[in-house]
Amino acid sequence: MSGVSVITLDGPAASGKSSVARRVAERLGVPFVSSGLLYRAAAWVVGRVDGDPADEAAVLALLGERRVRLEPSLVGDRVWVDGADVSEELHTDAVDAVVSTVARHPRVRAWVTERLREIPGSFVIDGRDMGTVVFPEARLKFYLTAPVEVRARRRVGERRADLDAVTEAMRRRDHLDARQLAPAADAVHIDTGALTLEQVVDAVMRALSGVGAP
Ligand code: CDP
Ligand code: CDP
Repeated sequence: MSGVSVITLDGPAASGKSSVARRVAERLGVPFVSSGLLYRAAAWVVGRVDGDPADEAAVLALLGERRVRLEPSLVGDRVWVDGADVSEELHTDAVDAVVSTVARHPRVRAWVTERLREIPGSFVIDGRDMGTVVFPEARLKFYLTAPVEVRARRRVGERRADLDAVTEAMRRRDHLDARQLAPAADAVHIDTGALTLEQVVDAVMRALSGVGAP
C-alpha cells in the first residue's frame, strides 16, 4: 500500500470478517489485526480469576494489574498477558460466553480503542466499530453480513458443536453487540451469505483498486 492506510472490516460474528481480512492483508502485504482479540483477552483475564464480567470497575482493575499486549504480525497476531502467549486460549466457548458482556463496558472499549490506535503503519483490521469509532478516517471501510443461520452453520463447521445451541448463542451475542454493530455511513456493504470466501475477497480487492490501493 502506498502511504499509511487502515482498511476496516466490521460486521457480526462469522460474517467472514477475519477470514476475508487475513486474505486481503496477505494480498496487500500488510498485517491483519483482529480487534476482537483484545476483547477476548479481557474476557480471558476475568475468567482466570472467576471475576464478574458485568462489573465494569472490577474488570478494569484486573486489566490494570495485567500487562496485555497485542502483537500484529504477517503470519498471525499473538496476544500476551504478563509475558505468556495466550493466543490459543481465546477462541473457546467459555470466552465466547462472557466476551460481549465485558465488551459492553465503555471504559473497557476505551482501553481497547487506545491500544488499537497505538498500532503503527498500514494494516487491515476487523471488529464491530472499527469504521465508526476507532478509525473513522480509514482509507476504506467494509461491512459484512450474512443471515444468522448461515453464520451459525459456519461456526459449527469450525468447532464440534450443536447447531441449535450455536445459533442461540450467536443471536444472544448479536443482541449484546447491537450498539457497536451499526455500520459506518460510508462503509461498502457485502452480504457474504451466498458467496465463497474468494468471491468476498475479490469484491473487497475490486473496491480497493477503485480507491487506488494496489
Ligand atoms: O469472530 P467473532 O466475530 O465471533 O468475534 P471477535 O471479532 O473475536 O469478537 C468477539 C467479541 O468481542 C464480539 O462478540 C464483541 O462482543 C466484541 N468486540 C467488540 O465489541 N468490538 C470489536 N471491535 C471487536 C469485538
Ligand atoms: O471473523 P468472523 O467471525 O466474522 O468470521 P470468520 O471467522 O472469518 O468466518 C467464519 C467461517 O465462515 C470461517 O470458517 C470461514 O471459512 C467461513 N466463511 C465461508 O465459508 N464463506 C464466506 N463467504 C465467509 C466465511
